[in-house]
Amino acid sequence: MSKKKKILIIIFSILLFIISSCLLSLYFLFVHHYKGTEKVDIWHETDEFKIENITTIQKQKDRDFVILNLADIQMCDLEDIFRMPIIYDEISYLVKTSKPDLITLTGDQTWSNENLISLKTIIKWLDGFKIPYAPVFGNHDYGNQKNSSTAELNYCCDLYENSKYCLFKRGPSNLGTLGNYVINIMEDEKVYKTLYMIDAGYEDMITDEQIAWFKWNADGIKQANGGVYSQGMCFMHKPIPEFRTAYMEYLYDSSEVEAITDVHVHYSLYGTEQNGFFEVAKECNVLDIVCGHQHGNNFTIKFQGIRLTFALKTDELGGFYEDKYIYLNGATVFTLNENVNIQNIFVDRNKYKI
Ligand SMILES: [Fe+2]
Repeated sequence: MSKKKKILIIIFSILLFIISSCLLSLYFLFVHHYKGTEKVDIWHETDEFKIENITTIQKQKDRDFVILNLADIQMCDLEDIFRMPIIYDEISYLVKTSKPDLITLTGDQTWSNENLISLKTIIKWLDGFKIPYAPVFGNHDYGNQKNSSTAELNYCCDLYENSKYCLFKRGPSNLGTLGNYVINIMEDEKVYKTLYMIDAGYEDMITDEQIAWFKWNADGIKQANGGVYSQGMCFMHKPIPEFRTAYMEYLYDSSEVEAITDVHVHYSLYGTEQNGFFEVAKECNVLDIVCGHQHGNNFTIKFQGIRLTFALKTDELGGFYEDKYIYLNGATVFTLNENVNIQNIFVDRNKYKI
């Protein structure tokens, strides 16, 4: 064989290797779906409640307990491939600034169907902070349509459940959604706060089964807590209709509501439809409901005894809302002591090096 022919064969082989590697990578990244483990865990109202099954996290007595909420990071494998270090720098800044005991994520951690690298990256970052974290799913965590994302919901559950610092549990499989779970913040042996992590992501309604399961947990904790409902906080993705009602009351200067933080509403207030969740939450001593989803909105308004918080979106330089360019970028911090103090960290990218 001539030398020239040999060189041609080598070049052809290298090209073939590169092209097939690229095609395989594209297939596994964007075509192949990672389905994850399907687990059947049927919950029924008559099941015995066991307090030891609830995840706990300890609060030191006489010290604040700080929750940093990251909302709607919306990272995408394709669009954000070169922006990932910038997003990390912002999250890292928020963590350093707030020094949280717990990080909550109110959904839409990823965006679009291409979520595999993004979610793995976010989990790696959060584990790197060595701080417990608790996510719920948002509509975009499901992909553009339900379960159209490369890493499907069960796979996302697997990733979260296998992560070292993540408190996520996929919860019962018969609530209509996955990722409903409860965390008790303990002060010594006492329940200090109960966090209800509710999947109000893809569906337009919190299901009746979710409400029944929520109440079953609240009642069970009440029984283990000397017959008193623990103070509750709910974290979910889409706002319930009371967010809209509270804002309208605020607009009309109603004495029925109290604005705890500045009120920014530059986008729709619609989220899940009415199904009575708020009334049940009120009955069970929930004092805070925290949501994300609508990026142009950020407020905490107290309505009928419950603080309704539209959490600040994490990582967005700004957006056009009603012909105005608005910067609503950062995170919301809940400092728990005798009261709950709620503050937003607005990130000005010019103030720190990113
Ligand atoms: Fe959303």
